[in-house]
Amino acid sequence: MTGPGASRPLELARLAAEHLSAKGVADGRLDAELLLAHVLGVRRLDLYLQFERPLSEDEVASYREAIRRRSRREPLQYITGRAPFRELELAVDPRVLIPRPETEVLVQEALRHAREAVGDAGAELDALDIGTGSGAIAISLLVEGPFRRVVATDLSPGALEVAASNAAAAGVADGLQLRRGPGWEPIGDGERFDVIVTNPPYVLESERATLMPEVRDHEPAEALFAGADGLAVVREVLADARSHLRVGGLLAMEVGSGQARAVAGMAVTAGLDAPRVVADLTGRERIVLAARGRDTEPKVE
Ligand SMILES: C[S@@+](CC[C@H](N)C(=O)[O-])C[C@H]1O[C@@H](n2cnc3c(N)ncnc32)[C@H](O)[C@@H]1O
Repeated sequence: MTGPGASRPLELARLAAEHLSAKGVADGRLDAELLLAHVLGVRRLDLYLQFERPLSEDEVASYREAIRRRSRREPLQYITGRAPFRELELAVDPRVLIPRPETEVLVQEALRHAREAVGDAGAELDALDIGTGSGAIAISLLVEGPFRRVVATDLSPGALEVAASNAAAAGVADGLQLRRGPGWEPIGDGERFDVIVTNPPYVLESERATLMPEVRDHEPAEALFAGADGLAVVREVLADARSHLRVGGLLAMEVGSGQARAVAGMAVTAGLDAPRVVADLTGRERIVLAARGRDTEPKVE
């Protein structure tokens, strides 16, 4: 990142992009520009509008450090500390999974159900988000949907801290109850919800080596892996989902590629009504929706 003109923004970004690409970063140019915009405190577009603006020594040093981190395959969002999710700009750090676009579809489906359930009556609903991480799902439900209360759980205390500060920043801290513990442990026996949403860990232990370094080496392991078949936490959720859903309530789950059909079958066995499988924006079946009907009883296996 030296040489004639190299302290000009776009020239710096071009050199950094070459370096990132050589280190195996998939979209080196985009990331180089986003990191430069972050360091300069401007929008990416402004790099093109301010293309003659020279950088100070401090700015060059900060940018060099950001590029060094990204070249070691640290995710862009942990370096900038921010991740967009639906209407939110969430704070993220290595204590939480970086929210993904497919989870935006999960929230969309939960909101669709909630709006239909509320109808014209204007009632307000209760939701539960198991494994809330950054709070992406729970906070979106409160910001966008007809929910008076969302309970959000996680077994990671660090994740709950991140979710708490994201909720405060979004102005919905009052509606969010954060509870620590695995599965149903933080939920009382008699508690019932209109919507239960979860994006649980679902990666198979055997897939560890196939993950991108950004994910495998930087995102929290407890947010990724769920036993030999990747379904350990899904099973935990399904075991008691029906008894914590109000009649007509919905369980909305995100699952891994190739898991949706099996999970839909497991949902029927757990006493939920004919599940629906929804594809993400790239056409992969990633969302399983199952309601608690009036007359269903769990099947005896
Ligand atoms: C895939 S991340 C999802 C984070 C966030 N909901 C999102 O969609 O971006 C899964 C989260 O579940 C938490 N988790 C893992 N196992 C759990 C369990 N048995 N009970 C509750 N939370 C769990 C992890 O700590 C992690 O924050």
